[in-house]
Amino acid sequence: MISNARSAIVTLLAFTLLTASSAPAAELSMDQMWGDTKVQVGLESSDRVALFRDGNYGMFIHWGIYSHLGGQWKGQTFYGIGEWIKRQMKISETDYMAEAKNFNPTAFDARAIVQLAKDAGMKWIIITSKHHDGFAMFKSKHPFNIVDASPFARDPMKELADACRAAGLGFGFYYSHNQDWTAPGGNNGPTKNPDGSEASFDQYFREKCFPQVQEICTGYGPLSFVWFDTPGKMPKDHVEKLAELVRQTQPKALLCSRVGHGLGDYLSKGDMEVPPRNLEGLWETCDTTNDSWAYAWYDQNWKDSREILHRLVATVGRGGTYLLNVGPDGTGRVPAPAAKYLRQAGQWIQRYPQVVYSAGASPWGHAQPWGDVTTTGHTLNLVVFDWPAHGRLLLPGLQTGIAAAGVVAGGKLQPITWKKRGTWTELQLPPAPTDAPAGVVAVKLQGAPKVDQTLGVFPNAASDLLLEFAEVQGATKKEIRWMEKFGEWKHANQVSDWQAGGRAVWTVDVAAAGDYRLDLTYKGEGRLVWRIETDEGVKLQNQQTSTPVYHAYPFGLLPFKTPGRHTIAVSLVEGPKDKASLTAIRLTPAE
Ligand code: GLC
Repeated sequence: MISNARSAIVTLLAFTLLTASSAPAAELSMDQMWGDTKVQVGLESSDRVALFRDGNYGMFIHWGIYSHLGGQWKGQTFYGIGEWIKRQMKISETDYMAEAKNFNPTAFDARAIVQLAKDAGMKWIIITSKHHDGFAMFKSKHPFNIVDASPFARDPMKELADACRAAGLGFGFYYSHNQDWTAPGGNNGPTKNPDGSEASFDQYFREKCFPQVQEICTGYGPLSFVWFDTPGKMPKDHVEKLAELVRQTQPKALLCSRVGHGLGDYLSKGDMEVPPRNLEGLWETCDTTNDSWAYAWYDQNWKDSREILHRLVATVGRGGTYLLNVGPDGTGRVPAPAAKYLRQAGQWIQRYPQVVYSAGASPWGHAQPWGDVTTTGHTLNLVVFDWPAHGRLLLPGLQTGIAAAGVVAGGKLQPITWKKRGTWTELQLPPAPTDAPAGVVAVKLQGAPKVDQTLGVFPNAASDLLLEFAEVQGATKKEIRWMEKFGEWKHANQVSDWQAGGRAVWTVDVAAAGDYRLDLTYKGEGRLVWRIETDEGVKLQNQQTSTPVYHAYPFGLLPFKTPGRHTIAVSLVEGPKDKASLTAIRLTPAE
C-alpha cells in the first residue's frame, strides 16, 4: 500500500510540476469581465419570455386552508406535502369546507412577502389561487373562497398582485384546473351534486374552472405566468379553451407544460428535480425550501443558503430556471428559517448578479466536483462551493484559450494565473475561499466556450461519475422517480435489469495516474458481486451487501497507470439482476 501511495504522490507531483506556459495575468475590471454587471431583468421587455429566460429565479407560494391545518387533522399528523392533507387523510368535503371558518391569516402582509422575494433575489412570484382542494384564495363568484367563506374577508391575491407590481416583480397564479376535491365533477372530487344527481367534469369546467380562470386573468392586472398543474386526463378541448382564454386576456403570461397536451410555453420538470445534464430550450425546476409545498408543522428540513444556491446555480448551469417555494403558515407568515436562508442566499446573489441573471448554461453540460459553471457571454462564472486544497482549481477539457482570469474578493477582481497541461487547465486561486458559501472565479475566454465534455477524474477531489453519463449495453438505463414521504419526490438516473454480459461503461479523462478509491452507489437485494475493468486491463471484483435504498459501497483501490482518456466498465457478476440498480461510481484520489 505504501509503495502505491508513494507512487500516487509522485505522480501527483509530476502532474503539478509538468511544465506549461503560465499565462500573464491581465488585470480586468468587473465590467470588462462581465459587461454590465448590474444585470437588470425587468418586466418591461417586449419579449414575453425575457423575464423567465433571464430572471432565472422565482418564488413559488403554496398557501390555503391546508396551511391552517399545517399537516395535522384531529390531532393526527399527515407526513407528506401539506396541501394534500384532505385527500390523504380522507377528510370529508363537509368537514374540510367547514375549516374555512377557522382560517383567518391576519398576519398576512403582501408587501413583506414581496420584500422577502426581492431580498432573496427572486424576480417574480407565483401563488396558489386555487389548489386541488378547490378553495379559492381570491374573491370569486364561486362561494368557496377566502373573501366570502372565511373571517379574513380580504382578497390576498389582489394585495400580492399590487405589491408585486409596485416592486417591479412579475406575478402569476398557480391554478389546479383538473383536480378539485370539493367541487362536484372536479377530478378526484364529489361525483354527485347536492341534489344527488350525477356531476360531470364538463359541469365542473363550465360552472367553476373556466369562470375562475377568467376571474384570475381579468381581475388582477398583467400576469407573467398562469401555472396550471396535474392535467391528468383532462380532455384536450378543455385545455385548449383555457390556454386560449389566457392568450386572449393575458398575452404576456407564460403557461408551463403542466397545462397539458403540449400547450405550455416551457417545460416544467418533475417536482424537486434538478437534472444532471444540460437541457435545451426553456425549462424550469420547481423546488421547495423544505420538503413540503404547503406549511407542515413537523417539516423543519429547511435548505440553508448553501443548498439553495447550489440548486439554483446547478439549475441555471443546466440551462434552466429555478422556482423555489415557500409555504406561509395559517397566520400568513413565511416560516422564519425559510426567510432567513432565502435572504442569506439573496445577499450572495447581490454580490454576483451575473452568475444568475441572464446567465447561460455550463459548456461542460454537467456539474464539476468543486461546484458549477454559468456563462456571461464568453466569460465563465466558476462557482466554487468546495474550495480546492492550495487553491488549485482544475478544469478538464477546456479548448478555448483564456484571455484573462480573476477571483472576486472583497468586491474586486483579483487576477489569477493559470497553467495549461494536456487537456486540463489549472487555475491558481488564493489558498483560502474568497466567499461563503461559494467563491466566484471569472474566466474570460478568447472566444465562444469550446469544451470536451468528457467527464474528468480529478487528482484533488472526489469525482462522481453519474450513470446518466455512462454507455449501457445489456441492461436497462432509465430515469426513475419515487416518493420518500408522500409528494416528496426523488429522482435517479440508473441502470438495472442486467443481462449476461451487461455493462455500464464510462469514458473519462484522468488528470493524473495513481490509485483511486472506488465506491459504487446502488440499491438491490442481498449480496452483490460487481466487476470493474479499465482499458488498461485493471480488474477489480468484490462482493458487498445491498439495501432497498441507494447507498455507496467501497470496492477497493483502482489504479490508473497513465493519465489521459480511459474507460471504466462496471458489470454485475452475481446477485438478483433485475433488482440491482446502479446510479453512480465515485473515484477519490488515494491519500
Ligand atoms: C404536485 C403536487 C401539488 C404541488 C405541485 C408543485 O403537482 O400535486 O400539490 O402544488 O406538485 O409543483
